[in-house]
Amino acid sequence: MDRTTVCPLAQAYRLLNPGCVLLVSVGDAEADNLFALTWNMPVRRDPPMVAILSGKGHYSYPFMQRTGEFALNVPDAGLVDAVLGCGSTTGRDGLDKFARFGLSRAKATRIAAPLVAEAVASLECCVAQVVDLGSSALLVAQIVHAVAAADHFRDGQWRFDRGLRLLHHLGGERFCVSDRAIDARPP
Ligand SMILES: Cc1cc2nc3c(=O)[nH]c(=O)nc-3n(C[C@H](O)[C@H](O)[C@H](O)COP(=O)(O)O)c2cc1C
Repeated sequence: MDRTTVCPLAQAYRLLNPGCVLLVSVGDAEADNLFALTWNMPVRRDPPMVAILSGKGHYSYPFMQRTGEFALNVPDAGLVDAVLGCGSTTGRDGLDKFARFGLSRAKATRIAAPLVAEAVASLECCVAQVVDLGSSALLVAQIVHAVAAADHFRDGQWRFDRGLRLLHHLGGERFCVSDRAIDARPP
């Protein structure tokens, strides 16, 4: 780095690759909901586990507490407005975010929450551990079922030759996409 700029510590996390922004779906027999999620990471390969950071004040949070389940839906960049919408509104007052943001429900295999049919992948998760962090909680969950668009996920990797654009959140209303793979030269 020739020239550097001091990054305020409150923004330092944005320097780390945040992974894809996701749509989390939650639900039980009576109701369901969606929220946008940037803070997610895989934490274990076998059994496959993931960790997400959720605000405890979200309308979605008690669903995850009660059912012990949620789904992570990976949106293509075409869903950017729906992602921002789901992340800037609450389902608390009866808003149906699926209808409001043009998304459809698909039936999950192992959990009660619906999946987002337009997503390019959906991972069904069961909560294994909750770390209370005050106003938010870290939920560590086991992935119990996962599906991905066959056009875009082949041989265990995202493939970008058929127009896939994965979505990342930079901050506020700004996002970026990843839309091609590059190969490193073997050492
Ligand atoms: C792009 C984006 C990313 C977000 N990432 C997170 C996150 O990682 N964790 C979190 O708890 N909330 C996150 N949020 C905020 C929630 O999605 C938001 O508070 C949402 O309105 C909660 O919905 P609910 O009250 O209907 O559950 C994000 C919002 C946006 C727009």
